[in-house]
Amino acid sequence: MKALVLSGGSGTRLRPFTHSMPKQLIPIANKPVLEHVLASVGSLGVTEVGVVVGDRGRQIADVLGDGSRFGLRLTFIEQDEPRGLAHAVAVARDFLGDDDFVMYLGDNMLPDGIAEMAEQFTAHRPATQVVVHKVEDPRCFGVAEIDPDGRVLQLVEKPLEPRSDLAVIGVYFFTPAIHEAVAAIEPSARGELEITDAIQWLVEAGADVRAAEYGGYWKDTGHAEHVLDCNRRLLDGITHSVTGDVDAASELIGPVVVEQGARVTASRIEGPVIVGAGSVIENSHLGPYTSIGRDNVLRGAGIAHSITLDGARVSHVRGLHGSLIGRFATIGACDGGSTHRLVVGDDTFVEVAV
Ligand code: TTP
Repeated sequence: MKALVLSGGSGTRLRPFTHSMPKQLIPIANKPVLEHVLASVGSLGVTEVGVVVGDRGRQIADVLGDGSRFGLRLTFIEQDEPRGLAHAVAVARDFLGDDDFVMYLGDNMLPDGIAEMAEQFTAHRPATQVVVHKVEDPRCFGVAEIDPDGRVLQLVEKPLEPRSDLAVIGVYFFTPAIHEAVAAIEPSARGELEITDAIQWLVEAGADVRAAEYGGYWKDTGHAEHVLDCNRRLLDGITHSVTGDVDAASELIGPVVVEQGARVTASRIEGPVIVGAGSVIENSHLGPYTSIGRDNVLRGAGIAHSITLDGARVSHVRGLHGSLIGRFATIGACDGGSTHRLVVGDDTFVEVAV
């Protein structure tokens, strides 16, 4: 089996980050989402992975390299525009050949693993096996109606009156039968070649389309709130490890990772927290549930339930909570007075306590 990891897209829901970086490189527990995805794919024993990329492909290739770091062989496949998930399958046609493959959306996190579902697919080898997950409000998702044996009767995109609470999530198992379906469908009303249409085409053609239910934790990290939530979930699993310097005036409580070259002085860190390599933390209070990227400088900072990306700086601002702070962003206090001075980029979102 091969894997196809979709890492193009426009990422409009994760602006402003996606003005300058692909959302698949947003860090969760200090590791890009895509690295979590590749680890998940690698755990299936797959080694040949196609990575579909858009106009930010260079950044992705720079981070992932040739994949040998993950025990994988990566082939980067360019998609000129985000023309839909089924279009991504079409552009990968030569890479996929006549092999079965698992398609994994590069912004989806399924930290409880997909091995069981992969085994199910390999054992029964239906034309397609989608992965479904129970959700509270299925109206925002592609919804699968399935019979008691797990056979898909119908897939409906964002139904007003859902016939089940099973949303189709970002992992799909395909045999080469999908290629005929992709070639047969037309773009949807939003102009994209939809994978749900291709799968529904197979259902209508009488093919065996199955659903496997994933009962674990799942997030589509396409939105800031989901990124923070997922970060909390992954930080819950970290093990205390200090390879950087922590002075005697600092206090570490619970699981805290201080990476190499990081320096913590006169600070209180309430885990779970990760402090990235090369970061400087002084007179600050971090955590819980916070990831600090590499080469940050935090002085007199108070930050919890948050993520900072590489090179961020926070000086003399406390009370930061539920925040996602971008690369080389600076947050500081004004000299005196009670004004707020902001230089805020496009599509940015700021909430200030008043
Ligand atoms: P989506 O999150 O559905 O689409 P998007 O990236 O355009 O995001 P937004 O809705 O915020 O604008 O995409 C799911 C995954 O598939 C994501 O990793 C991007 C990838 N993708 C492609 O590689 N090619 C495509 O044509 C599309 C639509 C998505």
